[in-house]
Amino acid sequence: MILLKFIYYIIYSIGVIVFMCYVDILYMYNFYQDWLFCDIKNNSEYDYLIVGAGSSGSVLATQLSKVKANVLLIEAGGTPINFFDIPVLAPLLLNTVYDWKYVTVPQKNACKGLNNNQSIWSAGKILGGSSRLNYMVYVQGHPDDYNPWLSDIKEPIVDRGGSLYVSNKNWYSKLSDAILQGVTELSYSLRNYNKVLPTDFMKPYLTIKNGERWSTDRLISESNDIKLKILTNSFVNKILFKSKKAVGVEFLRNNQIYRVFAKSGVILCAGTIGTPKLLMLSGIGPKQNLEKHNIKIVADLPVGKNLMDHIITGVDLVILNTSVALSIADIINPFSLLEYYLFKTGPWTSSGVDVIGTLHSQLQNNKTSVPDLQIMTFPVGLSQDNGVLLRKNLGISDKIFNEYFAPLVYKTAVTIAPVLLHPQSIGEIQLRSSDFHDNPIIDPNYLSEEEDVLKLVDGIEFIKRLINTKAMKELGAILYEKPFPGCENITFDTINYWKCYIKHLTFSTYHPIGTCRMGDVVDSKFRVYETKNLYVVDASVFPKLPSGNINAPVVMLSEKAAGLFIKDFTDGTKKTYKCYKSDV
Ligand SMILES: Cc1cc2nc3c(=O)[nH]c(=O)nc-3n(C[C@H](O)[C@H](O)[C@H](O)COP(=O)(O)OP(=O)(O)OC[C@H]3O[C@@H](n4cnc5c(N)ncnc54)[C@H](O)[C@@H]3O)c2cc1C
Ligand SMILES: *[C@@H]1O[C@H](CO)[C@@H](O)[C@H](O)[C@H]1NC(C)=O
Ligand SMILES: *[C@@H]1O[C@H](CO)[C@@H](O)[C@H](O)[C@H]1NC(C)=O
Ligand SMILES: *[C@@H]1O[C@H](CO)[C@@H](O)[C@H](O)[C@H]1NC(C)=O
Ligand SMILES: *[C@@H]1O[C@H](CO)[C@@H](O)[C@H](O)[C@H]1NC(C)=O
Ligand SMILES: *[C@@H]1O[C@H](CO)[C@@H](O)[C@H](O)[C@H]1NC(C)=O
Repeated sequence: MILLKFIYYIIYSIGVIVFMCYVDILYMYNFYQDWLFCDIKNNSEYDYLIVGAGSSGSVLATQLSKVKANVLLIEAGGTPINFFDIPVLAPLLLNTVYDWKYVTVPQKNACKGLNNNQSIWSAGKILGGSSRLNYMVYVQGHPDDYNPWLSDIKEPIVDRGGSLYVSNKNWYSKLSDAILQGVTELSYSLRNYNKVLPTDFMKPYLTIKNGERWSTDRLISESNDIKLKILTNSFVNKILFKSKKAVGVEFLRNNQIYRVFAKSGVILCAGTIGTPKLLMLSGIGPKQNLEKHNIKIVADLPVGKNLMDHIITGVDLVILNTSVALSIADIINPFSLLEYYLFKTGPWTSSGVDVIGTLHSQLQNNKTSVPDLQIMTFPVGLSQDNGVLLRKNLGISDKIFNEYFAPLVYKTAVTIAPVLLHPQSIGEIQLRSSDFHDNPIIDPNYLSEEEDVLKLVDGIEFIKRLINTKAMKELGAILYEKPFPGCENITFDTINYWKCYIKHLTFSTYHPIGTCRMGDVVDSKFRVYETKNLYVVDASVFPKLPSGNINAPVVMLSEKAAGLFIKDFTDGTKKTYKCYKSDV
């Protein structure tokens, strides 16, 4: 048995290395192809310039192109290549050339089990942005998440006129059934997560179409009727102003600087880190900060403040005595591959997230208000790939892996984990320098408020109740009782122990928001205060975190923004309407 697993690990390791080489080679190939064949006219003019082709930029560009606006979409990353649509390969794209690989500053109260106490913040640097790298979990959130700042929103799925395909006909491990049954035993209801619900658990809907990842760039590639100019491998480093009016942008492409101009608007969709960085480099941000870097002020606004993120803990805390979870063997099994290619079903359609649910912790008294904890379950524990990939993606130090996770490698460890939905701790993003090559200083200030720690402790208490249900006991579920390195001196399973554990094992779920908060930096029509023709539409404008994964909310927001732009644009063209020969 152990020998077999050992052989699987060898095959898997080889597979990972081969895939990584493949990714690098095709990236270079695409890069030169782009360089050779893409014609870009310096100083040309468009109706709209959209910076960033991620979840929001792709939606906006597609919608605006549909009303015949002349749009240029500028993306720093490259083009997706073959195989990127296979759901189960998602973790393989992290830490590659398609990832910005941001890291936070060392955290004082969190991340102590990670390299240098730093959290790794992956984000897509590719057409489709983070929707190309994400785990595809589709959650709409709680109505109160959007009140009152984003009223009259619609579910963003294709059936309702939106942009996303979603499906719950994917492969979920057998563990998911046991978890749902266990939750029922604990008398939580099993209603549809996406319909107003205080406490619900379900197998998640995923943004998948016919077994393939549905990232937002596919909107563009599957709309044959639109004319849209897209530039990849083009890094926008500055917004150009004529006094306070945004008139264009400057971008870097193959070490050459280009300029392009916009008649109707410059729309920033570069994400929660990219957008504030670009604004600050262009003179929009906290005055004191910008002056420190000798940047000329265009508008003194609190750009970069109010950084918030969902954090998760509790990886590999549950051990089973059966193999109902998703294993490396399932993934490298040739039958899984065959099943995927023939029918687009089977383990390769798994996103790695089996069950999601929300609940109110003991600290949240108002049970009709938003839930404050989410539970996410991953049928593959972090230890289960023998340290080849997953721990590197998360930045776990060698010492911690060897001491704490390695003993689990030949067992079945799974992750049933609490996510803090509405943290009190607030962080900030600042420029590191005035050089656009430098990543900004990211400080989420994780767990600086004690209440956040206590809520996660409550989440772990829930996990303990769950694994004590009959359904979970049948799988032999037990808590992994090895004391976490650094917390050995505290009695296991006391509140103080869990506090210590959480402060060591703190991960981002990659949901940063708030750095261009609506109400502070942009108004309710996405216009940047004190400027003209400059807009921000992406996760950075969220004033508060939704009660769930945020890709669907970002798309909802972008669809709403698209409606506003389209109205402005079509009203504008009506006013200047001229009679053409073809109209007569
Ligand atoms: C690993 C991972 C897993 C996730 N899992 C889920 C999940 O399961 N469910 C869920 O709902 N959400 C998930 N998310 C979160 C979700 O995908 C993101 O919140 C969402 O995609 C953000 O959209 P955005 O438009 O704000 O930014 P992005 O989609 O990140 O787009 C920003 C784009 O701008 C480009 N850009 C940045 N700077 C520049 C510049 N200077 N010039 C040109 N281009 C630039 C970037 O390359 C990128 O393409 C996950 C995210 C990650 C990273
Ligand atoms: C990381 O945290 C540990 C424990 O709190 C501390 O001793 C160490 O100095 C920190 N390292 C860095 C680089 O901040
Ligand atoms: C584009 O035009 C600008 C002036 O508007 C000039 O500074 C720049 O060098 C030009 N770039 C290229 C690649 O020709
Ligand atoms: C609880 O939350 C609901 C929904 O946000 C709100 O209407 C209600 O007033 C709150 N109740 C209390 C006691 O705060
Ligand atoms: C797993 O544990 C449960 C409960 O302890 C036990 O009933 C079951 O037989 C065990 N299964 C295996 C395969 O060991
Ligand atoms: C735990 O206690 C031992 C002995 O009292 C001590 O040497 C060690 O430094 C302590 N470890 C931590 C992490 O506090």
